[in-house]
Amino acid sequence: MPDATALGGSFTLPGTTITLNRMGYGAMQLAGPNVFGPPKDRAAAVEVLQEAISSGVNHIDTSDFYGPHVTNQIIREALHPYRDGLTVVTKVGAVRGDDASWLPAQSPAEIRQSVHDNLRNLGLDALDVVNFRIMGDIHKPSEGSIAEQFTALAELRQQGLIRHLGLSNATAAQVEEASAIAPVVCVQNQYNLVQREDDALVDHLAAKGIAYVPFFPLGGFTPLQSSTLEEVAAQVEATPMQVALAWLLHRSPNILLIPGTSSVGHLRENLAAASLTLSSETLDTLNAIGSLAN
Ligand SMILES: NC(=O)c1ccc[n+]([C@@H]2O[C@H](COP(=O)([O-])OP(=O)(O)OC[C@H]3O[C@@H](n4cnc5c(N)ncnc54)[C@H](OP(=O)(O)O)[C@@H]3O)[C@@H](O)[C@H]2O)c1
Repeated sequence: MPDATALGGSFTLPGTTITLNRMGYGAMQLAGPNVFGPPKDRAAAVEVLQEAISSGVNHIDTSDFYGPHVTNQIIREALHPYRDGLTVVTKVGAVRGDDASWLPAQSPAEIRQSVHDNLRNLGLDALDVVNFRIMGDIHKPSEGSIAEQFTALAELRQQGLIRHLGLSNATAAQVEEASAIAPVVCVQNQYNLVQREDDALVDHLAAKGIAYVPFFPLGGFTPLQSSTLEEVAAQVEATPMQVALAWLLHRSPNILLIPGTSSVGHLRENLAAASLTLSSETLDTLNAIGSLAN
């Protein structure tokens, strides 16, 4: 199995014994279209997960609201009993409507229900890391107290149902508010080569030793598109997606990647991006894409 070097090195979540290879895997693409219902090919989804693990990935990101339930059930089918050293990170704070919509589920009772749903569908007695997905504005971080919700999660942690806590779609003020309630080990927000609103937060969390886990590292539902990115990719003999991932790994040592894919071919391509070294000139060229976009 490749060591951490082949997967971009590793990062230890603060105050924990959890050391994650920086190249991980996001399981959202394993559900059906619009992250709703079952995938067309369940066996292929199982294969992607097993390939990730056998390639050395030890960080899988998921949620019970993918499917809903479907992604966690596929993870369980593919990987249970879980290998020592594998960390499954999940999130709570939303449910799905019958029309595939994403609905806030942010009351303490809904949060507790969601933790139990994750435990049951993943087949676990305790969840490694749970991110509270803030839904004040579903699309981007927005201010507002999260004390009630994070306290509910801290209580579940005290009860031993959760080992560590994180936040998703969070502002710096919310990280500070939550940290006064229980330790925050990671933050999962939208960030990529083009969408860099969180630049300051990435650096702030790096200084605190907290992991920053960008979602939509490849642009998510709208794949990254940039002629500069394509030119750089041609120069370094890699694909644009590989360059986008390598740029994130170069951006800050606290960045952990969870690119999502339903294909073994794309998975292999994404993991190989961890071996791509970008020169300072190339990084300058790529940095300018974000400056233009912002
Ligand atoms: N906290 C949150 O609110 C939140 C929100 C969204 C996502 N997430 C997490 O973040 C993870 C990553 O986000 P994401 O999966 O939505 O977006 P992403 O990683 O930015 O992009 C995934 C898309 O890129 C395609 N893709 C993947 N590898 C590729 C490659 N090498 N070449 C070309 N296309 C490629 C995938 O299609 P194929 O399947 O065809 O490869 C899929 O359409 C998710 O899996 C989920 O765990 C969290």
